Amino acid sequence: MAIRKILTAPDPRLREISNPVERVDDDLRALMDDMLETMYDAPGIGLAAIQVGVPLRVIVMDLAGEDEDPAPRYFVNPEILDPSEELAVYEEGCLSVPEFFDEVERPAQCRVKYLDYDGKEQILDAEGLLATCIQHEMDHLEGVLFIDHLSRLKRDRVLKKLKKEQRLAAAE
Ligand code: NI
Repeated sequence: MAIRKILTAPDPRLREISNPVERVDDDLRALMDDMLETMYDAPGIGLAAIQVGVPLRVIVMDLAGEDEDPAPRYFVNPEILDPSEELAVYEEGCLSVPEFFDEVERPAQCRVKYLDYDGKEQILDAEGLLATCIQHEMDHLEGVLFIDHLSRLKRDRVLKKLKKEQRLAAAE
């Protein structure tokens, strides 16, 4: 396993639409292992493959609390079915938009169809933080960031700040 570099906005690769995975094989599992390690190291609770520069429809996640055992989840080719009309608001953050958090409104419940770590088809009914996190990560597969759900003013402000920080880091 290896820790990979996480891309940060406004890196144009984060805007790519990810491709479906054709086969869940050992190469893909190696990618998922790296993604999980990268996510734990960051630390974060969810990561999409495009965030490490790989445009495949793969997500890893772990919502276990600090005193709980790790509970990694892997979603390959996830699809959202039946999003609820009821909405829920959570304060979101993103490893690709460091040090910025804001509230986003999304369907409170959803059903997700996906392939697991072994390539088996699964269906999961999600609510609460899990539903929000899955929808946030699935946005990444379409090149969408959570800041796209905010006002243009807020989005432009955070992107400008990130660009400036990256310029300074590159100059060091
Ligand atoms: Ni994110």
